[in-house]
Amino acid sequence: MKAIKDPFNRPIISLRITITNRCDENCIYCHHDGMVNSKDEMTPEEIYKICEISKDLGIQRVRLSGGEPLIRKDIVEIIEKISKLNFRDISITTNGTMLEKYAEKLKDAGLDRVNVSLDTLNPETYKFITKRDYLDRVKRGIVKAVEVGLNPVKINMVLMKGINENEVKDMFYFTKEYGIVLQVIELMESENCDDSKFNAEYHYDLTSLEEELTKIADDIKTREFMQNRKKYFIDGGEIELVKPIENTNFCKNCTRLRITPDGKVKPCLLRNDNLVELLSYMREGADDEILKKQYIKGINNREPYTHEKED
Ligand code: GTP
Ligand code: 5AD
Repeated sequence: MKAIKDPFNRPIISLRITITNRCDENCIYCHHDGMVNSKDEMTPEEIYKICEISKDLGIQRVRLSGGEPLIRKDIVEIIEKISKLNFRDISITTNGTMLEKYAEKLKDAGLDRVNVSLDTLNPETYKFITKRDYLDRVKRGIVKAVEVGLNPVKINMVLMKGINENEVKDMFYFTKEYGIVLQVIELMESENCDDSKFNAEYHYDLTSLEEELTKIADDIKTREFMQNRKKYFIDGGEIELVKPIENTNFCKNCTRLRITPDGKVKPCLLRNDNLVELLSYMREGADDEILKKQYIKGINNREPYTHEKED
């Protein structure tokens, strides 16, 4: 089926399911989206059902995220189930602490690729950001993911003023060595911190980095349907910039819908006031037609968070 478009003419082709809010780290910038009891999280069957409906409604790609998705003991079973639906792409975003253990099993279960959150290669800075001492484990997990072919492995590096803004070069050499894509991410406001203070202290404007990359890149590509992100190819390596705040085309080119761990359709990453119930309907025995109606209601609730600047 052709992708459904939202009221702003954006095709919905990608689904991001937060399968848990639980996490084994405690990052300073994390949004800590409201706690959902593990018994209220969607079961593998329920996740499968949502994916099945999504496929019918034109979704092509599925990403599982968290919290930390690998904290779920049934993660391999979840991937096995979803992979039966033959999506174009199934991926996971993980903090990597359990990746060494799971990479091969996930690959065998049908996972295509993985994004790993890693903001620094400095053990002290890692501890400061995550409140944990897991840097070596995460690095081993990343190498394992490359080895088993969960490619392209991507590293998500959130850049923060005074913390890691000087580490892009080091991270780039690390990623280049392993054929990993480096995604450098602009810090977004986090609802659970004292936002304005946190942001004023740590927000780092990516413009100067963007200018430098533009100068040195051998080639630059724009990912039109991926929020207009730019990819810079440098000396055999690859850096992608994720600038949700300082990029007015970001929302205009957003093609993703989200599902919360308790099974609600979430039209936008940055809002929680327009969610639509899905799982509760499913648990009450609603048929596919009703579930699809709810799903489409979620799509119709979508509106860009940042609008284009007027000249
Ligand atoms: P791929 O490029 O397909 O690997 O996906 P991705 O990079 O979007 O996935 P990932 O979960 O690793 O997210 C990386 C970053 O993208 C996040 O840190 C967010 O900053 C940003 N992001 C992802 N989804 C959204 C979204 O729906 N809205 C906004 N504003 N930002 C998003
Ligand atoms: N700002 C920007 N990126 C964030 N992430 C988590 N919180 C924030 C934030 N406040 C990123 C992490 C993770 C990805 C899913 O989101 O890098 O890999």
